[in-house]
Amino acid sequence: MKNKTPTPYTAPPTILVIFGITGDLSRRKLLPALWHLFYTNQLSAPFRVIGFARRDFSTDEIRAFVRETLDDLLAAADKNTAQRFLDNFFYQQGQFDAAAPYDALAARIKDAEQALGAPATTIFYLSIAPVHYETVFQALHDSGVVDVATDTRTQSRILVEKPFGRDTETAQALDEKLGHLFREEQIYRIDHYLAKETVQNILNFRFSNFIFEPIWNKDGIEKVHIELLETLGMEGRGAFYSDTGALRDVGQNHLLQLLAMVAMENPGQYEAAHVRVKRAEVLARLRAVSETDLARSVVRGQYEGFAKEPGVTHDPQTETYFKLRVFLDDPVWEGVPFILESGKRMRKDLTRVTIYFKHASRTLCPLDDDHPCQNTLTFEIKPTEGITVSFWAKKPGFSNEIEQRALHFDYRARSTDERLPDAYERVLYDAIRGDQTLFASTEEVHAAWRYITPILKEWQKVPLEPYAPGGDGPESRATL
Ligand code: BG6
Repeated sequence: MKNKTPTPYTAPPTILVIFGITGDLSRRKLLPALWHLFYTNQLSAPFRVIGFARRDFSTDEIRAFVRETLDDLLAAADKNTAQRFLDNFFYQQGQFDAAAPYDALAARIKDAEQALGAPATTIFYLSIAPVHYETVFQALHDSGVVDVATDTRTQSRILVEKPFGRDTETAQALDEKLGHLFREEQIYRIDHYLAKETVQNILNFRFSNFIFEPIWNKDGIEKVHIELLETLGMEGRGAFYSDTGALRDVGQNHLLQLLAMVAMENPGQYEAAHVRVKRAEVLARLRAVSETDLARSVVRGQYEGFAKEPGVTHDPQTETYFKLRVFLDDPVWEGVPFILESGKRMRKDLTRVTIYFKHASRTLCPLDDDHPCQNTLTFEIKPTEGITVSFWAKKPGFSNEIEQRALHFDYRARSTDERLPDAYERVLYDAIRGDQTLFASTEEVHAAWRYITPILKEWQKVPLEPYAPGGDGPESRATL
């Protein structure tokens, strides 16, 4: 895989319109990401942010809101720099379904371009509940705010957060709508897992080293375990979650994208056109789970007390945990199970991908319970960020006993003052530059839904097991 040498980039000015600027995602992720990009000079051109939300804010009030949100970060910088950052913020109040605010927004964008002195790339970030997506898309189109001209340097781009639909049909309907209103190159479907430094490194690690390459297939790999376990519960998202569940929330997107990173072919070049096609090919080969196989391929759970969480109003059948065994219809991966597992209110926070290699055909290892003598390679994503290779070696001394040892690479240990950019910094950085490599294509989204939707339709038949909050999940997880 060839990485492009970064060419110095002279971006046109950028105008970022954030729908839902006062919301949770904006406060926790987008505004801090923007600050870090600004502070580390990664926003290489002048920029403006126009917040769009229902609250009534003046320009001073939105700046005060941003100042308060980023209090700790701004306090650590000098006052002038903080002020220069805040001076870029403007605001447009409006209901998503009214026409007038979009006309006012268009006027604000024009003013901003005049102040910036050049045509700008305008990015529309939908950080709002998915029920409003269609309304906002239509209004952006009808008002002419989104420019569908062909100049890719300065064109308008639309960034959409997941969930992108809730099953095959709704995702298709949403895409048809989008396809009708805008061009595919303008649509950036966010899966923030793709933008994580450690997730990108799966590709670079696989395709820049030879050592694992010859055994990266069914002959060398016994199984792959992909985990996203969280100690957190609902955190105020009970209403959204009880209607969504774990499989839709993180399975259809983050975990399947991790699987694609592990199983995809070498894209040859690190470019959107190549990488996205290879990821989509993997997702298109996910083997449908038959009805008879479902009970053997799935464990579903719900933590005790979920039904009493604020906002959880209906459907006590929502899963907060799942474990799913997935196979690929691909001769390279024939018979290799990919185990996807995720849960809320678990004992620890842990996101990682573990590759279990097959045993050597002839070994000195006793191969008993204490000595499984299996090699593993782990990509650690959270809370530690690194790569670990485990192997077996002789214990020092006169006996011939062997023990498990590990080689470990820790991103944080590279240098104490180097910070890993947050995924949302990467999302914004790439969107400004017009690079769609780390955004999901329509083919990927649909292939993932085509696999997940039949499971969602049938899996109510699989018992929903309760599990203790702060534990390891439902008992029968051990059967997969
Ligand atoms: C989000 C889900 O997409 O990903 C959340 O909606 C989940 O429920 C989160 O907590 C996990 O992301 P991260 O980056 O914290 O691992």
